[in-house]
Amino acid sequence: MDLTGKEIAMLVLRLLFGLLYSVYCMVETLVLTLIPRSYRRKDIKGNVILVTGGGSGIGRLMCIKLAARGAIVVTWDVSEEGNLETVRQVVAAGGQCRAYTVDLCNRHAIYAAATKLKQEVGKVDILVNNAGIVTGKKLLDSPDESIIRTFEVNALSHFWTTKAFLRDMMALNKGHIVTIASMAGKLPCNGLVDYCSSKFAAVGFDESLRLEFKAEGKNGIKTTVVCPMYIGTGMFKGVQSKIFPVLKPEYVAEEVVDAILMNTPVLLIPGHMRIVHLIRAGFPEKASHYLGEIMGVTSMMDKFEGRKKD
Ligand SMILES: NC(=O)c1ccc[n+]([C@@H]2O[C@H](COP(=O)([O-])OP(=O)(O)OC[C@H]3O[C@@H](n4cnc5c(N)ncnc54)[C@H](O)[C@@H]3O)[C@@H](O)[C@H]2O)c1
Repeated sequence: MDLTGKEIAMLVLRLLFGLLYSVYCMVETLVLTLIPRSYRRKDIKGNVILVTGGGSGIGRLMCIKLAARGAIVVTWDVSEEGNLETVRQVVAAGGQCRAYTVDLCNRHAIYAAATKLKQEVGKVDILVNNAGIVTGKKLLDSPDESIIRTFEVNALSHFWTTKAFLRDMMALNKGHIVTIASMAGKLPCNGLVDYCSSKFAAVGFDESLRLEFKAEGKNGIKTTVVCPMYIGTGMFKGVQSKIFPVLKPEYVAEEVVDAILMNTPVLLIPGHMRIVHLIRAGFPEKASHYLGEIMGVTSMMDKFEGRKKD
């Protein structure tokens, strides 16, 4: 270290200010939770919102809910059938929705679809990276191809979709990038090595991107990362959750839409997962492993079926 006495004093002062600022942020969070949500929601009427994986599960529900608030919703899904059903449901509810069949494993297809979307619908205001897949096999039983595919859909595609729309957002200093990760991106789980790793990557993507925007003074571009526990959409069919209840898709979609409208940076669902996450970070590895075992984490995937038997 090559710091002068004056520089060290300045550093200490700034650290003290940082501590005070942390306390201020905690109080601010507390006060915000006391303000009714209806006062904290932004207006998305006329916004173009792209939801990947909008052809099923919470992606479809988010399309319906966002369109109900006046947004022009676009779904990208590899399933043409799923996409068409989403368009049907959104339009039946009086909303606007466009669908494009896109395989998110194909970077070139993503860029081509982005160009088409901008020409046919307009600039994207909010991007929701929601599509995801799971194999649910132990590492040695997982074919290489499915590990690669898991990373392509759950993590890598976020880079390509974001790159495709970020330049427009940067020029306006306005936009929102939403990452649907998972509690599997915060806590490890056996039988899900590829899935957890890809979701840890998605969480890291969101956190680093948020810092990048801050460092570049682009405070008008918001990011949100969502980490839910298991949701009853069928993706994790068969999973056994001893303590944590399987979440209702409607509830999760509503919470995510609210987080988007309130520019919430991090959303853990259910909220008490924040405590579980803190305990795990603070406890010795052996102790958190023991706690995980008694809470049934290590046997959760024993009867996993997923979507393959649907
Ligand atoms: N279901 C859960 O228990 C759970 C829990 C935590 C997080 N999540 C995450 O929430 C998100 C949505 O999950 P869901 O339960 O609604 O799943 P889902 O299976 O119902 O929907 C996922 C959608 O992604 C689409 N998709 C898959 N691969 C694609 C590809 N290559 N290109 C384009 N689209 C593709 C599918 O066709 C499907 O419509 C996922 O990212 C998932 O990892 C789910």
